[in-house]
Amino acid sequence: MLVLGIETSCDETSAAVVKNGCKVLSNIVSSSLSFHSKYGGIIPEIAFRKQLETINEVVDCALAEAGVKKNDIGLISVTDGPGLMGSLLVGLGFAKALAYCLKKPIIGVNHLYGHMYAAFLDGVKIRMPFVSLIVSGGHTSLYSVRDFDRIKLLGGTRDDACGEAFDKVAKILGLGYPGGPIIEKTALKGDPSAVTFQCSRTDKPFDFSYSGIKTAVLYYSRKKLAGKRNFRRVADVCAAFQDTALNALVQKSLSACRHTKVKQLVVGGGVAANNVLRGKLIAMSKKNGIEVLFPKKEYCTDNAAMIASLGFQLYSRGYHSDEKLTVDLTRGEQ
Ligand code: KG4
Ligand code: ZN
Repeated sequence: MLVLGIETSCDETSAAVVKNGCKVLSNIVSSSLSFHSKYGGIIPEIAFRKQLETINEVVDCALAEAGVKKNDIGLISVTDGPGLMGSLLVGLGFAKALAYCLKKPIIGVNHLYGHMYAAFLDGVKIRMPFVSLIVSGGHTSLYSVRDFDRIKLLGGTRDDACGEAFDKVAKILGLGYPGGPIIEKTALKGDPSAVTFQCSRTDKPFDFSYSGIKTAVLYYSRKKLAGKRNFRRVADVCAAFQDTALNALVQKSLSACRHTKVKQLVVGGGVAANNVLRGKLIAMSKKNGIEVLFPKKEYCTDNAAMIASLGFQLYSRGYHSDEKLTVDLTRGEQ
């Protein structure tokens, strides 16, 4: 079955055609990032206006690249939350109109669960159960996954998400937006032991907290870097912040695997593109007999291929949506 995926939860407008939940025939991602960069974060108003302008073309492009016609599509799978309200409505409205005109079934899927699926694209065999670490600009969560419709939240961030902390620290250090890739690059020239930062403790074992470390970087930079352009010091701060922020992800993922007695960890979300995180998780997994799976780099950040594939899996299990399908901002939080 050919599935058309549509994803518009944040600044990206993405459409993909995927065959039987694994073979990606096309995956078009159009980002409005350059329009947000000067503000140091995503401006929802700009994001959804750009999505309205581009969605038609992005879907046409995805169909053309896959070499299929609209009528060849067997299912439309669309992100219905969580994300930015206006942005989600653009994708959802478009998908519902298309499904109605073509008389095709539609299914709304959870964006975070889509990130979970990203590691299984391009033919990687799905093995259950697993623990999933979803680490992005909006979420930092651990899940116990028995099947794609049997997912339990183990814990999440109490304040900032990990990617959000990378973005805010980059802003504090004057490095630009998005912060993740630029901090990773700058940290290569720094010494993580030159400065000591800590993540705040949390009451619950699988929760995270990143606002304390972000504030610690702010105070440190005001005191030690104030106005001075000292690249070496900035690189040290990036390396120390990155190391501590990522260690919390590794340590809590390992605890979650032990707690659930599961030997497989599946990582997803924008921060999963970080090479230092990948190295740390691989080292941890070898030491503890756990298998760790990452998506290809192009599937770490928001994309419609993961949404199309998850939609296929749920539809195969008998789920579908109807014309009442609407945005659900609380998805994945329960
Ligand atoms: O999953 P995603 O594309 O969007 C959300 O659903 O949030 O993730 C974007 C986040 C941003 O906060 C960005 O700074 C972070 O992922 N990110 C990274 C890296 N690449 C992207 N964080 C750390 N290291 C990276 N290489
Ligand atoms: Zn995302």
